[in-house]
Amino acid sequence: MNPPAKGQAFRFLFGAEIPLSARSSLAYALPINAPNMKHIVQTLLLICALVFAAGCVTTTRHTPQHTFVIGTNDFLLDGRTFQIRCGEVHAARVPPEYWRHRLQMAKAMGLNTVCAYLFWNQIEPRPGQFNWSGAANVAEFCRIAQEEGLWVVLRPGPYACAEWEMGGFPSWLLKDNDIKLRTRDPQYLDAVKRYMREVGRELGPLQITKGGPILMVQVENEYGFYGKDAEYMGELRQMLVDSGFDVPLFACNPKDHLKDGWRADLFPVVNFGSDPAGSFRALREILPQGPLMCGEFYPGWFDTWGATHHLGKMDAYLKDLDYMLKSGASFSIYMAHGGTTFGFGTGADRPFKPDTSSYDYDAPISEAGWTTDKFFKTRDLFAKYLPPGETIPEPPAKNPVISIAPVAVTQWAPIFANLPTPVADEQPRNFEQYDQSYGCIDYRTKIPAGPAATVEAPAINDIGQVFVDGVRIGFTDRRSRNFKVRLPASTQEATLDIFVEAMGRVNFGPEVHDRKGIHGPVTLGGRELTGWQIFNLPLDDRMLAHLKYRPVTSTGAAGPGFYQAVVTVEKPGDCFLDMHSWGKGFAWVNGHNLGRYWNIGPQQTMYVPGPWLKRGNNKVVILDLLGSEQPVVAALDHPVLNELRPQLDFARSRRPVAKVKFSQLPVVYAATFAPGSGLQEVKFDRPAQGRYFAIESLNAFDGGPYAAIAEIALLDDTGKPLSEEGWTIADVDSEERTGEDGTAENAIDGQTANFWHTEWSDRKPAHPHHLTLDLGKSVTVGGFRYTPRQGADNVTGRIKDYRIYVGDAPKP
Ligand code: GLA
Repeated sequence: MNPPAKGQAFRFLFGAEIPLSARSSLAYALPINAPNMKHIVQTLLLICALVFAAGCVTTTRHTPQHTFVIGTNDFLLDGRTFQIRCGEVHAARVPPEYWRHRLQMAKAMGLNTVCAYLFWNQIEPRPGQFNWSGAANVAEFCRIAQEEGLWVVLRPGPYACAEWEMGGFPSWLLKDNDIKLRTRDPQYLDAVKRYMREVGRELGPLQITKGGPILMVQVENEYGFYGKDAEYMGELRQMLVDSGFDVPLFACNPKDHLKDGWRADLFPVVNFGSDPAGSFRALREILPQGPLMCGEFYPGWFDTWGATHHLGKMDAYLKDLDYMLKSGASFSIYMAHGGTTFGFGTGADRPFKPDTSSYDYDAPISEAGWTTDKFFKTRDLFAKYLPPGETIPEPPAKNPVISIAPVAVTQWAPIFANLPTPVADEQPRNFEQYDQSYGCIDYRTKIPAGPAATVEAPAINDIGQVFVDGVRIGFTDRRSRNFKVRLPASTQEATLDIFVEAMGRVNFGPEVHDRKGIHGPVTLGGRELTGWQIFNLPLDDRMLAHLKYRPVTSTGAAGPGFYQAVVTVEKPGDCFLDMHSWGKGFAWVNGHNLGRYWNIGPQQTMYVPGPWLKRGNNKVVILDLLGSEQPVVAALDHPVLNELRPQLDFARSRRPVAKVKFSQLPVVYAATFAPGSGLQEVKFDRPAQGRYFAIESLNAFDGGPYAAIAEIALLDDTGKPLSEEGWTIADVDSEERTGEDGTAENAIDGQTANFWHTEWSDRKPAHPHHLTLDLGKSVTVGGFRYTPRQGADNVTGRIKDYRIYVGDAPKP
């Protein structure tokens, strides 16, 4: 049907004959010259017609073009069965200039929906101050998705996890020392309510019910991992409703926690990385009828500094995806495109495994938005299951890629020569008490002359550098919970600096209450140090603008400092800053904070989006907290994400020296685990007391030499989970660190999709194997929860017979 001609418009619109002249008189006729009857009838008709027209317009604008409901068996889009083929893409992890490109890639992969988290700390960086601009302009992201033919599943939080700083929570919540996040703490709920109201205002209009692309909205995130309070989930659900969300609301959880916090008025979906059949069976226990959906299906996994780069198992991924497609189940691939965690966005996995800034995630669409073998295999698989008439478009063109030849850095700004005006404080306090979210704080005080002595504090989050009169003496390191440094004797009063870098706040478990900086008191030789100067170094644009640079001398530059170089670029394009000659810190290109780097790897390059470069001179600033011996700026035309360099780690060992041999501890329990992947709860005949907990595997169900554990949690004598705050791995006989990340910390990070695994790529030591936890203090242990390695039945390392040891270190 063709659009109507001008004059004809009227006739067309209403089907009645109205002379053109009448129209022009409309403006006037009504009030002034007394018209004849025919004139009155015409005018009235016109008014009715206009009112009718306005009515139509408004109804068309608000009448949803589409409807989406959760049917008895399927999702129904416009009344027809709709299998959600969704993939996760975080707007915050993609340069806005590339949102359309990445969404076109998602469409070309065969997805019909994208799923996106909101990160509260990005949207409300200060209490009551909302920011929806730039990378936080999620409304624009949704609009582009709609333009590219994609629906949207929105995950506004308030908690997201996602390896994002504090799981998305704004750190200012922690200024209140008593706040209890993810509970019905009124302080917390008030803040959530204000945030959700704003989310409703900004994104409510983009719901399918208003003509937008948003199909469903998630309440919280995997709450079952954290608590069982269904009322809390109810409060959040109501906030979303009160904020104008009228599309279906849902909740996601891993299979072992689907019932925790469950409510009938929240549609449940299950998250898993393997065993779809088993996971959907568990889901059917709380959802006897209705569409089955996997809320997060992992094609890869995220990386943490110092651990092996994660690569997903392609065959298993494709087999499980095929299973879901064939069975008509809906799913969301987490991540379809991981992207990059720019700026201060990275989180940390528990107990304290800081996440890398690359969030490539071995996803089908690579960090720089490139197609991969996994992309094409996924696309081909989807093509086999398309509803009639649906096609998959070609991928968009690859963005230009360049490299940049090495440029020597000539200017640097030593941090100690660029300190701001200090704040005086009797005792050192956390970042949050100084209203500082990110960056570093230099805590300075005077120390008297005296013999060699140890300076220490109960906790220093996260990495501390201890200087005496500007000379670095040593490091404190939260990874190994080593919070002390031995200072040499001094014959006169000296200046002590404890320079503390906050890495990402833990994004999972109760540890999200992650206050940065020094947890005092600080003592020297047991005597408390008071009278501190606090130098706040938020590493923000304002700070960078005031740095005073000086020439880099031939001897390089010792100590933390900013290094600046100008690189000339002919034709801007994507590239990867080569960080091999740098230590640890942040990098900026033309003012864009690219995020964190750390020479221990596995990531050795930082993604630089082409649109952030310009023809001609480009300013590169690199903060190196360790000080660079060879400050050179260069960029490669490919990423390096899989190169561990443990020899460069400033911490001699990743773990405190084991103070106890597990065999010195008393055996408190011995038994056989059940086969399979289900979570198993074990109660001891009588509670045991001790600071150390060890499990010894005697053999495995597959008869092989390996042991593996996805998760182990301890229970107190009432059966309640013990807090894992301060836990570290005291000792382990073997862990695979080359062929995959089988590090022991995976058994206590709360995530069941990764696992501790004994060596297999080189040596293959046989049972017995042991893993000893240092609980940080003596506690009463009444039992434990053991989650075997997840996945299909033939996975290696599922422990069969075992012994448990609990006790304190034998007196020296
Ligand atoms: C969980 C969370 C996600 C993300 C993945 C791991 O399932 O819900 O936000 O943290 O784990 O990448």
